Amino acid sequence: MIKLFKDGEALARDAAELIAEQARLTVESCGRFSLLLAGGETPRRCYQLLAQEPLLDSVPWHAVHFFWGDERCVGTDDPRSNALMAQNELLQQLPVQPEQIHPIRCGQSPQQAADAYQAELVKYFAGNPPRFDLALLGLGDDGHTASLLPGSAALAESGRWSAVTRRPEEDFSRVTLTAPIINQAALILFLVAGSGKAPVLGDILNGATIPHPYPAQLICPTSGELLWFVDQDAAAMLIERALFSAV
Ligand code: 6PG
Repeated sequence: MIKLFKDGEALARDAAELIAEQARLTVESCGRFSLLLAGGETPRRCYQLLAQEPLLDSVPWHAVHFFWGDERCVGTDDPRSNALMAQNELLQQLPVQPEQIHPIRCGQSPQQAADAYQAELVKYFAGNPPRFDLALLGLGDDGHTASLLPGSAALAESGRWSAVTRRPEEDFSRVTLTAPIINQAALILFLVAGSGKAPVLGDILNGATIPHPYPAQLICPTSGELLWFVDQDAAAMLIERALFSAV
């Protein structure tokens, strides 16, 4: 389902409220909530809203576990770090214990980081296939999501849960979850805002797959729900506006 918002603030507010509600319901029924965080800039405002009243006191944070869909293999104090952004905008404001936070630790080689992250997932999910309760995703203007990059071998990965990728123009590697793992999530929520995303979002949601699918088109929940939260600028090239439930 696609939900259209007038701007990024309205989108962030609704996303934060949805995350808080899902956390409450899931903790009530299952005792814990696994939240897969997205990197980049789009989720920043959503994280800020979760870390302040009224949402701050509405979530049983003690039972929430935080994971990342991907990480850039940069220093932990590097402003490009996805974990650092979430730490600054969300986690450091929350009453949580270190063992609830499961970052992708890139201190070693990228492959060792990917292997260690996979081991952490095996441990948390007690050997069962990882099924995140809510997976937050962003969308790059080239159609990537997490760090599933166009042309990457990680797009075809079906056995491993995590993989190493790299953008030719970047001086660092990335570690990403693979699409099959993300697709196990109970709820996948894309957050897409800004006019720069309009062409790729138009291609993706209008069903273009020529010459090849975008990485984000690999995201298709095996049994969960897929939601797109988009603002009007990003939705500028979408057809079938009847799909929207305007806000
Ligand atoms: C990353 C992100 C990536 C991001 C998109 C959108 O590490 O780069 O995980 O998948 O979500 O690139 O980024 P923006 O929100 O900054 O547009």
